[in-house]
Amino acid sequence: MEGDLKIFVTRLIPKAGLDLLYGFAELRIWQEEVPPPREVLLEEAGEVDGLLSLLTDTIDAELMDAAPRLKVVSNYAIGYDNVDVEAATERGIMVCHTPGVLTDTTADFAFTLLACVARRVVEASEYVREGRWKTWGPMLCLGYDLHGATLGLVGLGRIGSGVAKRATGFDMRVLYHDVSRQPSREEELGLTYVDLETLLRESDFVSLHTPLTPETHHMMGCEQFTMMKSTAILINTSRGQVVDEKALYEALVSGGIAGAGLDVTDPEPILRDDPLLTLDNCVVVPHIASASVATRTMMATMAAENLIAALQGRMPRNPVNPEVLDRG
Ligand code: DGY
Repeated sequence: MEGDLKIFVTRLIPKAGLDLLYGFAELRIWQEEVPPPREVLLEEAGEVDGLLSLLTDTIDAELMDAAPRLKVVSNYAIGYDNVDVEAATERGIMVCHTPGVLTDTTADFAFTLLACVARRVVEASEYVREGRWKTWGPMLCLGYDLHGATLGLVGLGRIGSGVAKRATGFDMRVLYHDVSRQPSREEELGLTYVDLETLLRESDFVSLHTPLTPETHHMMGCEQFTMMKSTAILINTSRGQVVDEKALYEALVSGGIAGAGLDVTDPEPILRDDPLLTLDNCVVVPHIASASVATRTMMATMAAENLIAALQGRMPRNPVNPEVLDRG
């Protein structure tokens, strides 16, 4: 153990990460299935040097002000929209995240969800389980082909590029839109850069891979759904708030678009009576795109290593605000 360092881990994460932390500091771990209530988080944060947080924990200025010893927030996720990074930087608190290790697993899943909605897998499985399967049917569960279709990627970071790579194996034409063009990836993967409107108008599948920022909040709304083909399918594995879900519901019931696959929703969990859950053409799963045994283990190790490095005053591998350490 290093001095009297204390760490709070806001949920049970894979053992590989916890094992690294046990020998390093005094650990407290929130053991429940649901996140610690706000008052518990505030109280625990108030006593520790490091937090290993999840995307379900709001780490804001109020919490930081209630945490006089806090030096590091190591988020167990690539996304860090749950953390007020500016407030952390102002207070000299290092923020870290877990990029890279979940790229392929998340890209695998985005593609799985796309195939699942296109070929109506969930609906077909329910049809069988409900005892409705009477015979092979020429019109039964007709879906949309992946091969030869046009895929539009909104955001071409690591995960978007991973999805593009998978799409080439299905002979898809791939369009992308991002704040900046990426000529080397265009060449490597055979992608075409277009503006968002062209992407929405021409794509059979639109897959979202942007971080949640004030600019991307509700970037998919009524106007955007109107631009999409009536046969198009929307896939969201980014953040729920990127999509205006009321507008999505309208587009799905009115036939404005053909289907949607949502790994993420706004709020999470989606409410039991959310109208999206009544639709056969909308598949909703509980934010599991990075949920493979290997990837979650790597995320746990990475989050723990980041936390340890920052508490030892070293530059962690995955800092969000490295300037905190740079400026001493
Ligand atoms: C992330 O890491 O941001 C994902 O949403 C969960 O793995």
